[in-house]
Amino acid sequence: MGLNLYSKIEPFLDFYDEVYTLHNEFMSIVFNKDLDNVLDVGCGQGFFVESLNLNQKKAFGIDLSSEQIEACYHRGVENVACIDLKDVKEKYDCVTAIFDVINYIQKDGLKEFFENVYNSLNDNGYFIFDVNTLYGFEDIAQGCITMDFDDKFIAIDAIYEDEKLITDLTLFIKEEDESFKKEKDFITQYYHSKDRLKKMLKKAGFKVEELRDFSLHSDEKADKQIYICKK
Ligand SMILES: C[S@@+](CC[C@H](N)C(=O)[O-])C[C@H]1O[C@@H](n2cnc3c(N)ncnc32)[C@H](O)[C@@H]1O
Repeated sequence: MGLNLYSKIEPFLDFYDEVYTLHNEFMSIVFNKDLDNVLDVGCGQGFFVESLNLNQKKAFGIDLSSEQIEACYHRGVENVACIDLKDVKEKYDCVTAIFDVINYIQKDGLKEFFENVYNSLNDNGYFIFDVNTLYGFEDIAQGCITMDFDDKFIAIDAIYEDEKLITDLTLFIKEEDESFKKEKDFITQYYHSKDRLKKMLKKAGFKVEELRDFSLHSDEKADKQIYICKK
C-alpha cells in the first residue's frame, strides 16, 4: 500500500490547521485523564509525539512507513521507530491512533490490532483513536485534487465504494535533467461501523468509556468519531 508515497505528498495537503485541532482534542483527553507515557501508533511525521514532549509527557511514536519515520528524524523528533505494533515490548499508560490510522486496517485485522494495543497497555490504561464516519467518507473524503508546482505535480483521486475509500496518488517530480519522474500508488481505507468497532473492542477486552463526535473538515455534521477506551 502507498504509505511511503502518501508521506511524500502529505506536507503539500495543507491539513496542518485541521490536524492541529484534532491533536488538541486528543491532548485535552490525555491531560484530563492525567496520562503519561503515551505510545502514538501511526505517528506520521511526529507532530503529536512532539506536542506531548513539549507538554512534559513521555511519548514514543511508531509508524509502518519508513518515509514517515525519516521525516520525523528530519524534523528533529527522535523518539520514534518504524516497527509494527506487535513488536512493541514496553508497556504504556496510553495508546493513541490519530487521523485515520484505524481506517487503514481491514475488517478482519481489527481484532488482532486491538489485542496488540491491549497487550502494550498497563492495567487501567487508555486507548484513544478516531475513525471516519460514513458522512466523512461519502461526503468529505471523496473527490479529486491536483497541485501544480514548478518542481512537482500531484494528483489525488478518491472514490468510496463497498465500505472502502480507494485513494489514487500520483506524483511527478522534476529531475536534474528537467524531465519528470512519475510515482503512482494507492491507499485503501476501510469504513468501520460503530457496532463493529464496539464488538471488536469488547472482544479484545476494552470498555468504551466515551464516544465523541468530531468535525474535522466540516461545520455541518461529524466526519469523525473519537473512541475513548479503557483496559
Ligand atoms: C493520515 S496519517 C496520520 C499521521 C499522524 N497520526 C497525525 O495525526 O498526523 C496515517 C498514518 O498511519 C500510518 N499507518 C497506517 N497503518 C498503520 C499501522 N497498522 N501501524 C502503524 N502505522 C500505520 C501511515 O503510515 C500514516 O503515517
